[in-house]
Amino acid sequence: MATPWWRDAVIYQIYPRSFADGDGDGIGDLDGIRHRLGHLADLGVDAIWMSPWYPSPMADAGYDVADFRDIDPVFGTLAGAESLIREAHAAGLRMIVDIVPNHVSRAHPWFAAALASPDAPERDYFWFRPGGDTAPTGWRSEFGGPAWTRTTNPDGTPGDWYLHLFTPEQPDLNWDHPDVRAEFESILRFWFDRGVDGIRIDSAALLLKDPALPEVADGAPHPYHDRDGVHDIYRAWRRVADEYPGRALIGEVWLPDPERFANYLRPDELHAAFNFDFLGCAWDPGLLRECIDRTLHVHAAVGAPATWVLSNHDVTRHPTRYGRADTTFSFAAKREGVPVDLELGTRRARAATLLSLSLPGAAYVYQGEELGLWEHESIPPGLRQDPMWARSGHGRDGCRVPLPWHGDEPPFGFSPDSAAEPPWLPQPPEWKGLTVAAQRGDPSSMLELYRAALRVRRGEPGLHTPALDWLPAAPGVLAFTRGPGFACVLNLSAAPVALPDHDTRLLASSPLDGDLVPPDTAVWLRLQHR
Ligand code: GLC
Repeated sequence: MATPWWRDAVIYQIYPRSFADGDGDGIGDLDGIRHRLGHLADLGVDAIWMSPWYPSPMADAGYDVADFRDIDPVFGTLAGAESLIREAHAAGLRMIVDIVPNHVSRAHPWFAAALASPDAPERDYFWFRPGGDTAPTGWRSEFGGPAWTRTTNPDGTPGDWYLHLFTPEQPDLNWDHPDVRAEFESILRFWFDRGVDGIRIDSAALLLKDPALPEVADGAPHPYHDRDGVHDIYRAWRRVADEYPGRALIGEVWLPDPERFANYLRPDELHAAFNFDFLGCAWDPGLLRECIDRTLHVHAAVGAPATWVLSNHDVTRHPTRYGRADTTFSFAAKREGVPVDLELGTRRARAATLLSLSLPGAAYVYQGEELGLWEHESIPPGLRQDPMWARSGHGRDGCRVPLPWHGDEPPFGFSPDSAAEPPWLPQPPEWKGLTVAAQRGDPSSMLELYRAALRVRRGEPGLHTPALDWLPAAPGVLAFTRGPGFACVLNLSAAPVALPDHDTRLLASSPLDGDLVPPDTAVWLRLQHR
C-alpha cells in the first residue's frame, strides 16, 4: 500500500500577506499566489499550508478570525480560494488550511452577540467573569501583559472580564460548550468539502481551561496548557477527518515534554505535529543527534511520522539564528540586536536543509527559506505591525517581510510595478541578491540547493523509508543511512572530515575539498552496493 502523503511530504508554508501581491495594495493576496504557483511546483514541494486567509481585523495578522467560512477581501474571495485549491491540485500540490480554534476575533459574530446582551447565549461560548477591580486570575497572555480585559458597559462603565491568552482582540473560546465543538467540526467539513487535504491547528494544546480558574502553580496541573481533556476534541476531529480519505490534521503543539507531545499523535488523534524541539535545538552535534533520536523514538511509539521544521512565521529565521553565538530558539530568550555572522549562519542553514530533508518523516519549508532570507531586524519601530512587539518588546515582523521575486530594489516584484502602496513591511535593500530571479540558474544559490535537494529526495527510495541508521563517525560528525543506498554526512566539527566509502556524491551544501567535508557542511551520498 502506498505511504499516505502526509507521512513524508515536503510542505511549504505560505504567509499570504507576504508571498505575492497581485493587486498592488502592498499586501499579498490569492491572485499573487495563483500567479506564482509555478515557483512552488518548480521548487518541488508536495503541499502548501496557507496561514489564515479569513476575514479578520488583522489584530494578529489574521490569527484573529471573524469568519472561518470566507476569505478576507484584502486576500480575495471564497471563489478565488476555491480556484486556488483547484489550481494547486492541478499543479500537483496539496492544500492545507489553518484553523484557529483557541480564540476568535472580537469582530466574530459570537463575540459581538455576547457583548450586545448580558443574557445572550453566546456569552457562554467565551470566558466572561463578573467585573471587579482585579482580574479573575493573574494569568499572563502569551504575548505579554494580562490575559484578561474588561468589557465596557453601554453606559461607559467597566463591565465583565473576558479571557484572551493572546491579544485582547482574540477572546478565548469555551471548549466545554458543545456548540463550540459542533461549530468547529462543521468548519472542518466546510473546508474538507472544498477539497483541502489537511488542517493546521493553531495553538492546539491551549483549548481547554480549568473552569475553577486556579493560578498557574508549580507542581499543579496547568490551568490551560495541555489539559488531558483536549484529546477528546482531537479524537472527534479525527473522526471527521476519517470521513474524507487522505486528509490530515497537523497540530501546532509547543510542549517541552516529548511524551506529552506524542499523546497528540496517537492513532485516533492528529496525524502529525510540528517539531519545535528540532527548530529550537542548538547547532551542536550531540544535541542535534539527541533531538533526532528523541523525535524518532517518541513518534515511533505512537506510529506517527516525525516532522522537521527550521522556521515559520513566529520564529527568528534560521540563517540568523545559526549565525549567532547562541544558536537555539525560544520565545523567552528571543532578542534582537545580538551580533550575527550571516555568512556562517547561511552556510549552516544550507547544511541544515540537507539534514532536515533527509531525516525520516515530513519536512516544512517556510516561504523565503528557499531563498536564504534572514531575519530583518532593523525594521523601524513605527513600521512594526506585530502585536507581540507592542506587548513584549520583541516581535515577529522580521520573519514576515514580503518575498523578493526580482529586480534591484524594493518591492522586488512582490507588488506589480503599478502598485499604489509599498509592501506592508519594508524589505531590506540587501535582498537584491536574494531574489528568485537572481538565484535561478545559479548552482551556488540557496534556491538551486533546495530545488536539487527536493529533486533528489523525490527520486531516492531510501529517503522514503521510515527509519535511519547511524553510521560510525568522527567526533562532531553526524552520519546516517536511509535504506541500503543513501547516506547523509553532516560535519559540525571545526575540522574537515573524510567522506565514507560511497558510489556517487549526490549533493553537497557547500563545496567539498576533494574527499574532505569542510565544517558546517552536509553531503548526500549514494552508497556502494553491498
Ligand atoms: C500561533 C500562531 C501565531 C499566532 C498565535 C495566536 O502560535 O502561529 O502566529 O499569533 O497562534 O493565534
